[in-house]
Amino acid sequence: MITDEEKVIVIDFGGQYNQLVARRVRECNVYCEIYSYKTPIEKIREMAPKGIILTGGPNSCYEEGAPTAPAELFDMGIPVLGLCYGAQLMQHVLGGRVERATVREYGKTEVLVNTKSPLFNGVSDVRPGTDHVSSDEALTVCWMSHFDYISKTAPGFEIIAHTKDCPVAAAQDTSRNLYAIQFHPEVLHTVDGKKMLFNFVRNICGCAGNWRMDSFVKQTIRQVREHVGTGRVLLALSGGVDSSVLAALLSRAVGRQLTCVFVDHGLLRKNEGDEVEEVFGKDGAFDLNFIRINAAKRFYEKLAGISEPEHKRKIIGEEFIRIFEEESKKIGSVDFLAQGTIYPDVVESGLGGESAVIKSHHNVGGLPDYVDFKEIIEPLRNLFKDEVRKVGLELGIPEKIVFRQPFPGPGLGIRIIGEVTAEKVHIVQEADAIFREEIKAAADVEGGNPSWMPDQYFAALTNMQSVGVMGDERTYDHAVVLRAVRTVDFMTAEAAPIPWDVLQKVMSRIVGEVRGVNRVLFDLSSKPASTIEME
Ligand code: XMP
Repeated sequence: MITDEEKVIVIDFGGQYNQLVARRVRECNVYCEIYSYKTPIEKIREMAPKGIILTGGPNSCYEEGAPTAPAELFDMGIPVLGLCYGAQLMQHVLGGRVERATVREYGKTEVLVNTKSPLFNGVSDVRPGTDHVSSDEALTVCWMSHFDYISKTAPGFEIIAHTKDCPVAAAQDTSRNLYAIQFHPEVLHTVDGKKMLFNFVRNICGCAGNWRMDSFVKQTIRQVREHVGTGRVLLALSGGVDSSVLAALLSRAVGRQLTCVFVDHGLLRKNEGDEVEEVFGKDGAFDLNFIRINAAKRFYEKLAGISEPEHKRKIIGEEFIRIFEEESKKIGSVDFLAQGTIYPDVVESGLGGESAVIKSHHNVGGLPDYVDFKEIIEPLRNLFKDEVRKVGLELGIPEKIVFRQPFPGPGLGIRIIGEVTAEKVHIVQEADAIFREEIKAAADVEGGNPSWMPDQYFAALTNMQSVGVMGDERTYDHAVVLRAVRTVDFMTAEAAPIPWDVLQKVMSRIVGEVRGVNRVLFDLSSKPASTIEME
């Protein structure tokens, strides 16, 4: 549905930061899409991108069968920026040499860059008082992660950056607009990475930067209206950010032609079902038909005796679909089924780039088989999460929903290790509400966003009961685990350093207020090796 003409293409060689590259480009107000390195060159030519970025990847470009790119790619008159593997590949294909280094460069690394290069224009020197340095050079800090290195640049290239161990940290051929960078400008540890990407897409590629969410909203509302006409639209609303933003967008486009079915599976956080109803129900601000199904009992029955995580996910997904189907039968035939698919879903399901999926993140068990509809519409399909949030704000959705933490589709079902029961759900809901309340209160005292603020935090229930003491009584109760992580992309994460006094307050409130809990644990693990959720 996007007709934006100005586009940059990210060609994915399987690197872990591929989505980050695309996100950073969009932060420069330039629309961009990710494609596999297997995409035929004719297709790329047809798309007529304003620029091409080659991502990192796990291979060695000189090895037999390694992912490659045709020399033609660098010869189309379109600026190309190669990052890490992409940089090595560019040099390799164009006649340079790439070899295995004796030492791996990994982590934050000091890089000396030539600020006369259009790519490094405006990069600042990190050293205090830099008078002794020629003004054409700046020492900056970049994120490195490579074993192979470029030992000789391809003909026509000049070196524009180096490190202590890496003779070619960046190279350019300005006559062909080709740029190769060994480090990762997309990673936030690269101090001036954003500036470098901005230089590439806005200055070198000449993009005007017209990708903005307010125009996306207007354009999409108009397109949906035209496409849907007088048709009816059905949406499974979960109350999460994506489906809520979609509901609001569709409501603005087609009003009461939209029906939202909200299945409350009884695995939501405390009071969440009512909060969703407040916003989208009959007393809410949006014009649409809202149907709420309270199905907790049905889900608990289906989950009885089941403890294997993927099995629980599957049951929850399938039951969700069955209920949605039953409801839609009552509604009768509709023309369109709307889905809150967003760009990371597209990329992670293998349709966009090259990345592997580690855990299946499908919230529902596929598409409903028995819903009578003619066509699927996915108006948010090309947006990253932060863009979806901006759209939500444009549409007037309360911040509480727009900035909601990620919450898994199977809900508390995967935050209760082992079998799910109504009693355990109640315990997790109460403990989680206390944890969130206290984190918010402590954060507010420090201005709302303290340095320890986690990006995702929740309480979960271990599958363990242990001995405790309450008054003079021996207890044998549950152990709640608190999880709080700091993460940029949810692919890697570290435990957030929550102040001790906050944790202690949470612990004493949970043990004091939630019946059936006599122990509170704090999960220190990073991802990897752990995941963020318990299951
Ligand atoms: P993990 O546990 O894989 O979580 O480290 C990474 C992020 O994904 C969320 N998550 C899910 N989201 N359905 C979802 O919609 C799921 O089955 C699911 N599992 C994990 C998790 O909350 C975290 O933000």
